[in-house]
Amino acid sequence: MRIAGCLHITTETAVLVRTLQAAGAQTAWSGCNPLSTQDDVAAALAQEEIDIFGWRGLSKDEYYWCIEKVIATKPNLTLDDGADLVFTLHEAHPGQAKEIVGGTEETTTGVHRLRALAEEGRLKYPIIGVNDAETKWDFDNVYGTGQSSIDGIIRATNVLIAGKNFVVCGYGHCGKGIAMRAKGLGANVIVTEVDPVNALKAAMEGYRVMPMINAAKIGNIFITATGCNDVITGKHMSLMKDGVILCNTGHFNVEVSVSELERLAKSKREIRPNNMEYTLADGRRLYLLAEGRLVNLGAAEGHPSEVMDMSFANQFLSLIYLAKEGKNLKAGVYDVPKELDREVAKIKLQTMGFEIDELTPEQVRYIRGYGAGT
Ligand SMILES: NC(=O)c1ccc[n+]([C@@H]2O[C@H](COP(=O)([O-])OP(=O)(O)OC[C@H]3O[C@@H](n4cnc5c(N)ncnc54)[C@H](O)[C@@H]3O)[C@@H](O)[C@H]2O)c1
Repeated sequence: MRIAGCLHITTETAVLVRTLQAAGAQTAWSGCNPLSTQDDVAAALAQEEIDIFGWRGLSKDEYYWCIEKVIATKPNLTLDDGADLVFTLHEAHPGQAKEIVGGTEETTTGVHRLRALAEEGRLKYPIIGVNDAETKWDFDNVYGTGQSSIDGIIRATNVLIAGKNFVVCGYGHCGKGIAMRAKGLGANVIVTEVDPVNALKAAMEGYRVMPMINAAKIGNIFITATGCNDVITGKHMSLMKDGVILCNTGHFNVEVSVSELERLAKSKREIRPNNMEYTLADGRRLYLLAEGRLVNLGAAEGHPSEVMDMSFANQFLSLIYLAKEGKNLKAGVYDVPKELDREVAKIKLQTMGFEIDELTPEQVRYIRGYGAGT
């Protein structure tokens, strides 16, 4: 198969690319974010004569040039993270879609975009939303993003987390992980939400829940993890304390309004790598990390391999499934088949050295029937 990939070029991705090649596929790859490519990894893959298009600090035009290069290899499977590859293919090369038997999507925002495309009847081939697999969404997004986002904040600032008012915007999978890790480091965690159920979960976990306009006045560190735009805007920035740290870990750089920060600031200077100090007219300083792009990949190395292994096992198994079954599926967004999801959990447990119990035949009979009462 010819696989076109568009996914952060990190060490973990390099292992996925090598694995796909070892299974006999031809691959061509671009990064899915202008700031997340690890140049040494891209160079190592290039040295192995693997088609790889990406470097850290791409302009928007260069970013799409890389995606075009990958599409030009005429893939019959796609692997996307954020759906920029799939959207470019649909918009600029719709004729190529008939060559493609299927695709996979790595992240929440990408799955949302593809569902929107499918609802408009415009999605042209089947795509498996790998993000929504239990062994991806409940681990990579929670424990991976939780740890690596804090890692990014610390690398870019060397700030002490203990005692800080740490504002997590969005208490979904990623937000939950970040809040948990910030709390563990001694922060006073504040959550902002728009969903009443997730807000309630945060409240019962012991976090303060409040609207952004109130959190803006008391927070020391702010991180967005929503997949939504304009979560932190100029009206919030104008209320913030001196020395506040702002960052984002959602897929696109739309959550913290960088354009409004630029407009409010009278000067800016880079005080450390991935840390821009903006001085406002009244002298207050706000620190924006990794240009408002994913802080864990822009200012650190993304998630550790011990959690990406599960995500990429789902990717690998889903691509094999699509290579076999894709031609029999209608265009649409599909879940990772349940048995693959469970298989990944089973193998992961084995690699971690854990064993679990098995139901006895009597227990199976009991829980299937539930006939027996008091
Ligand atoms: N940095 C990374 O490595 C990484 C990893 C996985 C996912 N992501 C991205 O992170 C984002 C979140 O993913 P997720 O899996 O946690 O999604 P999710 O759907 O589980 O959670 C998102 C939460 O944000 C809340 N929300 C939406 N708009 C809001 C707003 N304006 N203010 C406050 N809360 C709001 C939602 O109610 C929801 O609870 C997505 O863009 C996803 O693609 C990034």
